[in-house]
Parts: sequence; structure tokens; C-alpha cells
Amino acid sequence: MQYKANTLEHQWMPFTANRDFKADPRLLVRGEGCYLWDHKGGKVIDGSAGLFCSAAGHGRQEIADAVSRQLRENDYVPPFQSGQPASFELARRVAALTPDDLNYVFFTNSGSEAVDTALKVAMAYHRARAEGQRTRFVSRERAYHGVNIGGVSLSGMVKNRESFTGVMPGVVCMRHTLLPEHRFTKGQPGTGAELADDLQRICEMYGATTIAACFVEPIAGSTGCLVPPKGYLERLREICDEHGILLVFDEVICGFGRLGHAFAAQAFGVVPDIMTMAKALTNGAQPMGAVAVRDGIYETITEAAPENTIEFFHGYTYSGHPAACAAGLAALDIYEAEGLFDRAAELSPYFLDRVYELQDVDAVADIRGYGLLAGVELKADGAPGARGAQTQKDLFWKGLHIKFTGDCGIVAPPLIVAKEQVDEIVGILRDTLA
Ligand SMILES: Cc1ncc(COP(=O)(O)O)c(C=O)c1O
Repeated sequence: MQYKANTLEHQWMPFTANRDFKADPRLLVRGEGCYLWDHKGGKVIDGSAGLFCSAAGHGRQEIADAVSRQLRENDYVPPFQSGQPASFELARRVAALTPDDLNYVFFTNSGSEAVDTALKVAMAYHRARAEGQRTRFVSRERAYHGVNIGGVSLSGMVKNRESFTGVMPGVVCMRHTLLPEHRFTKGQPGTGAELADDLQRICEMYGATTIAACFVEPIAGSTGCLVPPKGYLERLREICDEHGILLVFDEVICGFGRLGHAFAAQAFGVVPDIMTMAKALTNGAQPMGAVAVRDGIYETITEAAPENTIEFFHGYTYSGHPAACAAGLAALDIYEAEGLFDRAAELSPYFLDRVYELQDVDAVADIRGYGLLAGVELKADGAPGARGAQTQKDLFWKGLHIKFTGDCGIVAPPLIVAKEQVDEIVGILRDTLA
């Protein structure tokens, strides 16, 4: 049975123009495969996998059954000083997907919590090594690392910061990697690797021994798909190694097949020390995030504490919630059984070719893409973001859901998308933008 919305008034909606939305609501009441249905009965193709979550498509029976079974059998277990089997099993499965020795997994309930957890892991790690003076963090312009105070402090997106001035101090930003000559580049741009040397300059300016970690999204997603220049992530890795700085990849969007590999770390062949993830971890069917760390980080923090004491004073009431773990395990089973990460890799050239055909549309200023992720940047029309907001609404009523940030539409369909559905997405985009 569906709940009915008798009034829209009382919910304060997140990242939404509340007054505008409530005057002309767009409710989604059903989802199946790559499609959603609105409250007027219209069919909407999901061009952004929800918010980059629904890798295996909507309405997956296997996930619903697993969650239902779990809730009937073991609905809640305190995660502090007790446990339940599903979270240990999910940690094992996630560790098997991460590269190298990122073998320890800490569960959170969202990407934002994963980022704040990663900040605390970095602090605790350096303190355990008697390097507690490493209090500074490096991030990047145009970065999105969620909305909690730690993640907002790392954020490089002005609207996410400017109302909240009392954020965490000690964050220094590198420049973003989008250069004018990158316009309409498919995949990794060939220029711009030297932008990683901003990290070296920050080391020289502030003292490398004051820096705890460098956070980057391997592909900056929410800002509109900024693909790292060739050699850029490799250079960041070198500088971090040289100075004892932890490299953190925020894989909340890139993880679980979006780039044709389990994680961006494998897609780009660069292994970070810490990875944050969320979204497709459960196919979006339950809220969950996670942080994976190298063996040495877990061991350093754990072994620094006296025997039989809590080693890391951090955790959530819902860390590793049984229902979320059941959804995660069922989602990973689907990804494996259907070979969805490989499928994304195989489909990527077709997807990118089709999306890049939009470059002849007058309203399009730039297109960037990698894997099954693309940013279609529109020319601004009036105030920044005005055209994007209007386009997002127009697309919806023409049967396409796309996530917009400002004037950039971010195309990231479920990994199960068929070629004809890619055509459908691009066709609606072309009609609407024209
Ligand atoms: C790279 C990145 N980090 C963190 C987050 C925050 O995740 P959540 O919305 O689950 O808190 C997001 C969300 O889009 C993201 O893209």
C-alpha cells in the first residue's frame, strides 16, 4: 500500500526550491528497472540512477526480499560491543572489491558520514603515530564531500559553504582540474596533470608535517563530472607518499561500477589509503555508507590503544544496520551475477558517443564523461543555475529524470541500461534543449 501525501506543507525538503516545488510538485510513486512513474501516471526514464544510487535499477525483488527477511528475523542489533553476522559478511565482501590492502571497513549511514568518519580516521591515525600535529586537510575547488560539518569544510562548492561560515578550520584547497582546452574531451584530458603540484605548493607553504590527508573525488561528480587529467591522480599519490600524507578517494559516486570497475581506484590504477563509499553500496535501497582503510591504518589505531579497550571512539547507532547490510549483500550479489561492472565498461563507448552527439546543440557549452557518467554543461541563461533548474523541470515532464547542479546535467543511468534506453535519454535531452 502506498502512503498518500495529504499536504506537502510540513516537510522541509533537502537541496530543493521548496516554494517552487510545492507549487508544482513532482512526486515519484513507483520504480522498476530504468523507469520511474510520477504521481500523474507519467513514465520517467531515470537518467541519473536516482542520485547515482540505483546501479541495478529500481524495484529489485532480491533486495526487497532480503531486507524483508532480515527485518523479520533480526531487525536491530546494537553495533557497540555487540554485532550481527550480516555486517561482518558485508565488510568481507566490500574488502574483496577494494584494491590492495584496503581490507578494513567501517559502516556509516550515508556518504556524508563516511567523509566525516574518514576525517576522524586520519586524525586518529596520525595521533596514534605520535604525529598529532598533522591537523590540516587538503581538498579541492568544486569538490563535494557531503553536507556534514567536516565534509562541508572540505567542500569547494560555494553555495554549500557560504551560509555556514563556522566550519572546521585548517582546510586548504587545490585548484580544480577543468581547463578551457578540455571542452568536449571524452575521457581523461591529456593536459593538467601539473595541477596536482598544488599539493606540493601547499606542503611548501604550510609545512608538509602539518597535513593529515588530501581528499579528492577521483571524478568530481556533483559539480558536473570533472574527469582527472592523465597523470594527475598518480602525481597526487607520489606527493602524498613523499610527505606521509594520507590520500583519500571519495568514491561515493564513482564506486560500485560507475566507471566500469569496482572503484575509480581500479579504473585509474591509483590506490588511495582510505576510500569513502555509499549510494550504490545498497543500490540505494537502504541508507548506508562505508569507509575502507588500509591494514596499516586499522592496525596502527587499534594497537595504539591498551588491550581490551575501545580503540576508536566513533560510531553510529545505525552503523551496519541489519536491513542495510541485507540490502548491501543482495545488491553485491546482483552486481556479481549480472556482471554489471563489466557491463558498464562495455557500454561506456556507446553511451559516451551518444551523449557527446549533443555537442552540436546550441545551448550546450561543454560535455565531459567517463564510464557511465557524463556532465552536460549548459550555457548560462540569466542567473547561474536558472537554465539548469528550468531544464530539469522541463525534462521531467517530458519523461526524463536528470540530476542538475547549477547549469550542468549529470547523466548516469543505472548500469543495467540498454542501448535503446541510452537513445531515449539522449533523444529527450536533444528535444528539450533544442
Ligand atoms: C563524492 C560525494 N561524497 C559524499 C556525498 C554525500 O553522500 P550522502 O548524500 O549520502 O550523505 C556525495 C553525495 O552525492 C558525493 O557525491
